[in-house]
Amino acid sequence: MLRNRRFWLLLMLGMLVLTGAGYFALVRTTRQWFASDLALRTKLAVEAAGESLESHWHDSPDALRRTLASLTRDERIMAAAACSAGGMMLAASDAYPESFSCEALLHRARWGNSVNQRWSFESDLPSGRVHLGIVPMRDSSGGGFVVLVHDLSYLDRREATTRWLLVAGFLAVTLGAVLLTMMAARIAWRDWTQSLRNALGGNSRAEFLPLLRDVHEMAERLSTERNLEQVGGRWSPERLRATLRQHLDGERIVVLANREPYMHQKTATGMKVLHPASGLVTALEPVMRACSGVWVAHGSGSGDRDTVDEHDRVAVPPHAPAYQLRRVWLSDAEENGYYYGFANEGLWPLCHVAHARPTFRADDWTHYVAVNQKFADAVCDEVDVEDPIILVQDYHFALAPKMIRARLPHATILTFWHTPWPNAERIGICPWREELIEGLLGSSIVGFHTQQHCNNFVDSVDAFVESRIDRETKTIVQGERRTVVRPYPISIEWPVHWLSEVAPVAEARSLVRKELGLPDNALLGIGVDRLDYTKGIEERLLAVDELLLRYPEFRGRFTFVQLAAPSRTKIERYRELNDRVEAVAAKINETWGSGSYQPIILLRAHHEPVDVFRFYRAAEICYVSSLHDGMNLVAKEFVAARNDEQGVLVLSQFTGAARELTEALIVNPYDLRHASDALAVGLKMPADEQRERMRSMRRLVAEFNVYRWAGHMLVDAAEVRRKERMFGRFPKRPSHKAVR
Ligand code: F6P
Repeated sequence: MLRNRRFWLLLMLGMLVLTGAGYFALVRTTRQWFASDLALRTKLAVEAAGESLESHWHDSPDALRRTLASLTRDERIMAAAACSAGGMMLAASDAYPESFSCEALLHRARWGNSVNQRWSFESDLPSGRVHLGIVPMRDSSGGGFVVLVHDLSYLDRREATTRWLLVAGFLAVTLGAVLLTMMAARIAWRDWTQSLRNALGGNSRAEFLPLLRDVHEMAERLSTERNLEQVGGRWSPERLRATLRQHLDGERIVVLANREPYMHQKTATGMKVLHPASGLVTALEPVMRACSGVWVAHGSGSGDRDTVDEHDRVAVPPHAPAYQLRRVWLSDAEENGYYYGFANEGLWPLCHVAHARPTFRADDWTHYVAVNQKFADAVCDEVDVEDPIILVQDYHFALAPKMIRARLPHATILTFWHTPWPNAERIGICPWREELIEGLLGSSIVGFHTQQHCNNFVDSVDAFVESRIDRETKTIVQGERRTVVRPYPISIEWPVHWLSEVAPVAEARSLVRKELGLPDNALLGIGVDRLDYTKGIEERLLAVDELLLRYPEFRGRFTFVQLAAPSRTKIERYRELNDRVEAVAAKINETWGSGSYQPIILLRAHHEPVDVFRFYRAAEICYVSSLHDGMNLVAKEFVAARNDEQGVLVLSQFTGAARELTEALIVNPYDLRHASDALAVGLKMPADEQRERMRSMRRLVAEFNVYRWAGHMLVDAAEVRRKERMFGRFPKRPSHKAVR
C-alpha cells in the first residue's frame, strides 16, 4: 500500500517536472519567435515608409510626424519617433513614451554618436511591456534612426492562455494515466485470481500446496512473533514468565539434565554448595529460577544424599528457593558405563571433531539404556499432568525422549543437544546410531545450536531410520509422530546475577594482580574451561609461546592465566590431557620465565562463578580456543563481565559463538602463528576500538540472552501442542492426575 502511494507520488512529481520544463521551453521559444518577428516587422514598416521619411527628415517636422503617425496605424505599433545621429528628437507620434528619449537610446546602446545597425529590446512601462525596434536611416538622412514601439501586452495574454492550456493538459494526461493503469491492474488481477482459482479447483491443487503451506506458515510465524512482541521488550525472567503464562497456561517445567545446578559437598569445615562448571548449568539455571518446576539430575555431590527430603528433592537455590532439584542416584557401575563410558568415551568424541577416537563398548551401552530409563521414570514421576512440558538436555539422554513418550504420550518434549551434531557419515560410526536417533525422535522438538547441526541431524535421520522428512517445515514424520528440528542458539542470563557480588573492573584488576603476585602494569590473558581436549587448551598455551617468540616486547610483561576445572578424570584421555597441559605450561615457563616472572599460570581447580567473573574483569584479553564447540558460553560470559567496555575476545572459528560474536578476533586455533598475531593485535588494540567491539558484542548478548532462547523454545512448544490438540490427537484440556 505504502509502496503504491510512493509510486503514484513519484509519477505525479515526474509529470509535473516534465510539464514545467515543457512550459518554460515553450515560452522561451515563442518569445524568440516573437522577437524576430517584431524585428522584421519594424524593418519592413520603416522600409515601406523610407522614402517619405527621408524626404521630410531634415526640413519638415510636421510632415515627419504625420509619416510616423501613419506607421502607428498598425494595431501593434504603439508609437514611433525619428532621432538625429546626435540623439536629438526630430519628431514623434502622439503616444511616444518620454522615457525613451533619443539620447537615452544612444547611451543605452553605447553607440556614441551614430547608429550603424538594427537593434531591439524589451522594456516595462506602467501600461505594460513594450518592444522597441530601432532602425538606422540611410546615410542620405545624416545617420539618424527611427524608433518603433510595439505593444507586447497581447504576448502576456497569449502566455497566460498557453499556461492554462498546459495545466489542463497535464491534469487530463495524469488522470488518463491513472485510470488506464488502474484498469490494467484490475484486469490482470482478475485474470490471475481466476486462473489460480481454476488451478486450485482442479487436479493441480497439489502443485500449489507448498505455496499454500508457505503462506500458512508465514502467517503463523507472524502471529507468533506478534504475540511475542505483545509481551514486549528485552527478554528477561519476567517476560519469560509472562510468555509461559500466555502460551502454556503457566505450567511447571520439568528439566532432565545429567549435571545438577547445585552440588552439596562435604568438607572439613562443613557442607558446601558448589556451582558446577558447566555451560548447560550456566544457561539453564536462570531459566528455571524464572519459570520454576523441577530439575531432575544425577546427585553427584558427596553431601547430596544428606540434603534431600524423602522424595530425593531439595529446594534450590539454597538461599532463595525457586524450584525443586530432584536427585537420581547412580551406582558406580551405572555411572561408569553410562556417564564415563558411553556418554563421554563414545558420544562426546563422536560429536566433536577434536581427533579423539570414540570408544563404543556393549556394556556401556547396556548401562546407557538402563540409566536413560531410570531418569525417564524419574521424570514421569515428577509430572502432575498428562501433557507436561519436559526439557531433555544433551547427549546423556538421547534415549529418554522415546522412553518418556511411551509413558506420557501427550507430553510436549523439547530436547536440546548441547554439543555439535556431526555429519551422517560420522554418526554412522556408532553401532547404536538407529536407537539414538529413534530415541531423539520421541521428542516434539529437537534443538541444536546451529542450522548446520540441524541439517546434519536431518541427514542422519534420512540415512538411518524409516521416516518421512519434510524439509520445508523441518519436520520428521514417523506414523502419527512429528518431530520438529530447529536451531536455538543458547546464551547466558542478562544481566549475570553473579556480577553483583564481583568487584568493579579497576578493583578486580588490582585484586587479581595482587593474588597472582604480578605488578600493576602486567598484561593479563585469561582462559576458562573444564580440562577437556575439545577446548584446545594445549593449542592456546602454544599460541602464547609463539607470541613470546615473535613479539619480544611482551616477554616479562604478559601473563596468561588458565582456570582449568578438572573434569572426567576417570577417563584415560582426560588424565593424559591433564599431564600434557601441565608439561606444555612448564616448558613455556622454562623458556620465557625469569626470576618471579612465569608467563603461564595454570590454576587447576574448580572455581566458583564469582571468582571466574573477577578474572574476566581483570584481564586484557580472553582466549577461547575450542577445537570444536556447540556454542561456548565462556565467550559470552567474558563479554557480560566487561561493563567497562574494554577487553579483547580472541575466539576460535570452530565455536557456535563465533557466528554471533563477529567483533571478536576470530582465529583458527590450530594455526599458532595466526593465533599469536591475534593475541598481539588484541594486546595492542587502542581503547576506542576495544570499546566499539565490546559495545557491539554486549548489545548482542544482552538481546539474544538465555531467556530469549528458552522463550522461543517454549513458544514453539506451545505451537506444537496447539496443533496436536487441534488435530484431535488428545483431549483439549488434560485432566490433572495426582502422580504422587
Ligand atoms: O557441551 C555440553 C555440556 O553439557 C556442557 O554444557 C558442559 O560443559 C559439558 O557438556 C558437560 O560436562 P560434565 O560432563 O561435567 O557435565
